[in-house]
Amino acid sequence: MLKTRMTELFGIRHPIMLAGMNWITEPKLVSAVCNAGGLGILAIARCNPKETRENIKQVRDLTDKPFGINQILIGPGAKENIAVAIEEKVPIINYSLGKPWFVNDVHAYGGKVVGTIAVAKHAAKAVQLGCDALVITGHEAAAHGAAATSMVLIPLVASMVKVPLIAAGGFYDGRGLAAALALGADGISMGSRFMVVKESMVHDNFKKLCIDASEQDTLYSHVFDGMNGRVLKTKEAEAMMKRSFPIIEAFQGALLVKKLMNLSFAKFLGATIEMLRAEEGHPLWVLARQAVGNMKHLKALNEGDVEKGILFAGQCCGGITDIPTTKELIDRVIAEAETTLSKLNTLKA
Ligand SMILES: Cc1cc2nc3c(=O)[nH]c(=O)nc-3n(C[C@H](O)[C@H](O)[C@H](O)COP(=O)(O)O)c2cc1C
Repeated sequence: MLKTRMTELFGIRHPIMLAGMNWITEPKLVSAVCNAGGLGILAIARCNPKETRENIKQVRDLTDKPFGINQILIGPGAKENIAVAIEEKVPIINYSLGKPWFVNDVHAYGGKVVGTIAVAKHAAKAVQLGCDALVITGHEAAAHGAAATSMVLIPLVASMVKVPLIAAGGFYDGRGLAAALALGADGISMGSRFMVVKESMVHDNFKKLCIDASEQDTLYSHVFDGMNGRVLKTKEAEAMMKRSFPIIEAFQGALLVKKLMNLSFAKFLGATIEMLRAEEGHPLWVLARQAVGNMKHLKALNEGDVEKGILFAGQCCGGITDIPTTKELIDRVIAEAETTLSKLNTLKA
C-alpha cells in the first residue's frame, strides 16, 4: 500500500484519481474507481443542474466511498452546477479553467477544493484562493495541457506550494506513479488510461484506436475546441487542422449545447454573454470552436464514428495495450509502483 498526503487528505486507499472527463466520467466509472480504492471524479460540465443532482445520487447509490465532481468554470451552467454540488455536500470539488468563488462554502461542510492548473505561476494563486490540493497538468495530457511537460512542471510546482499535488498528463502505469512521487507529487490522475477500461462508456471503436495509437499519434492545437489541447490523430482531427473557421458547424454545435443543457433561447443567449464578459471568459470564436468540438466528441464517444469523430487523448495512448477492469488496472498500477520503488531502493550503494 502507498500512503501519501493525497490518500490522507481524501481518505482513500490508493493515490490514484480518475481525471474528470466530460461525458466519460459517469457514475458507473466513477463508482468503480472509488470501490477499487481510488478517487473517482464525476464530470458535470455537460449536465444541467437536474442531471448533476441525479448523477451525484447515482454515484452515492453505487459507492459509499469519497468521490468528487469536476466542473469547467467557464462553461454555461457552471454556477448552477457548483451550487448543486455544494447543496449535496460532495466531498471533493475539482475545478478547471477559471477562479473558484465557492471555497468557503465547500470548507463550511468539510469538503475539499482541488484546483487544476497547467502553468506553474497559477499554482500559487490557486493555493492563495484556498485550494486544498492541486492537479498539475503537463503537456502530454489529453485536452488542455500547456507548454510545459509533467517532468518539468511537477518539481517546479512542488517547490512553490505546500499542498498535496496530483500529477496529470502522461500517467498510465506504476512506473509513472513512482516517477510522479519522485518528482514531488502525492499521487496521479489518469484520463486517457481510464477511458480504456471495461466500465468506460467510450465506444469500442475509439478504445481500439487508443490501443492501436503510438505515442506519436496525437495532435495538439487550438482548432479542436478553441483552447490548446490534444486529441487522437483521426481523419477528422487532421482535416480540422487544415480547415478555415467552421461557421456553419459552430451554429449546429451551439444548438446542440442549448439542447443538451435544456436552455431556452433567452437563457442560452444570457449564458453566452455572461461567458464572454467573465473575467476569465473567452472570445466568441473560442466558444464557437468549443461548440464544434463538443459535437465531434459526441460523434466519437456515442456513435464510434472514426471518420467524423474526434477524441481528446494523451500521448500515453502509446502505452495502452489492453482493456482491463477498473479494479484490475488500479491493482496493477499500485503493484508496479511498489515494485519500481523497491527496485530503485536497491540502487543505494
Ligand atoms: C475525453 C476527455 C474529456 C475531458 N474533459 C475534461 C473536463 O471536463 N474537465 C477537465 O478538467 N479536464 C478534462 N479532461 C482532461 C483530463 O481531466 C486530464 O487532465 C487528462 O486526461 C490527463 O492526461 P492523460 O490523458 O495523459 O491522463 C478531459 C480529457 C479527456 C480525454
